[in-house]
Amino acid sequence: MTAQTEKMVQTAEGTAYGKLILIGEHAVVYGYPAIAMPFKWLQVQVHITPASGPIILDSALYNGKMDEAPQMLDGLVKSVKEALSWIGARETGFAITICSDVPTGRGLGSSAAVTTATMRALMAYFDCEMSAHRLLALLHTSELVAHGTPSGLDAATVMADGPIWYKNGERITPFSLGGCFHMVVADTGHQSDTASAVQGVRQYVTSEPAKGKTSLLHINEGVRDVGQALKEGAQQKIGRAFHAVQRELEVLGVSNSPLQQLITAANQAGALGAKLTGGGRGGCMLALAQDEAHANELQAALSDAGAHHVWHFSIGGEEQT
Ligand code: PMV
Repeated sequence: MTAQTEKMVQTAEGTAYGKLILIGEHAVVYGYPAIAMPFKWLQVQVHITPASGPIILDSALYNGKMDEAPQMLDGLVKSVKEALSWIGARETGFAITICSDVPTGRGLGSSAAVTTATMRALMAYFDCEMSAHRLLALLHTSELVAHGTPSGLDAATVMADGPIWYKNGERITPFSLGGCFHMVVADTGHQSDTASAVQGVRQYVTSEPAKGKTSLLHINEGVRDVGQALKEGAQQKIGRAFHAVQRELEVLGVSNSPLQQLITAANQAGALGAKLTGGGRGGCMLALAQDEAHANELQAALSDAGAHHVWHFSIGGEEQT
């Protein structure tokens, strides 16, 4: 046992938030920028408690020995093993209990948030420090399983304090917002499979290189417009970019009819802009409201249109749900 494991505490907690991509999903995989933020209205809490025998995982998805966990938890299991090897601790003697508000497979960063909270809980349990760089590397391990070829956006976003500008390989830049923006996120209730959506985009970009490139460039323009508009408080400009980028995501084949239905409902209810968020082909959509009262109207319209769950919140002012 190493000095670190001797300092082990009785129980420990780690937390993390989900994430919300405002704009730039999919294009970010090709080295273009994206804007995303931690979704602080959805949290993951992980507790580690001493237990005899092999590591136990206790979550809504699975309860049992970590080594026998189903494939969908492979990413998390790999990260836990890598973290324990880095700490110098044995793979035995404790239970990991995961309580998550972040729905799985909805583009809200469930896997990155669960892994981050688990890594934080492990650090607290074994009383050791981990650099942000090391944590990102461990997150990358689990995101490789979830996404196939992760851009790193999810990992960077769940570790951020607020909205970020992200471009793979460049320094992550926090955003200062020049206004208060009211937004609504609605869940179609349908699972989205990020890895297959990313794969579908790759097929399109490979088989239709000119059209694929044009779509990616248009998304890039939308991201740059939104970046500027967030700083200026220019709501209409953000709305226009959301519309334009949604059309490109449709061309890339990652929207689908449940998403389309909610996006249409938001547009009919006067959203300044609406688009899918995350990997697409299910999962969630995002709409920009005119003000707080309008966000309430959008929330009602999206519920009427069959949304499984709707969250409304503001950023840049006094944040509220
Ligand atoms: O995890 P999701 O479904 O929110 O998707 C992440 C965003 C993508 O751009 C589609 C993939 C990536 O690795 O950035």
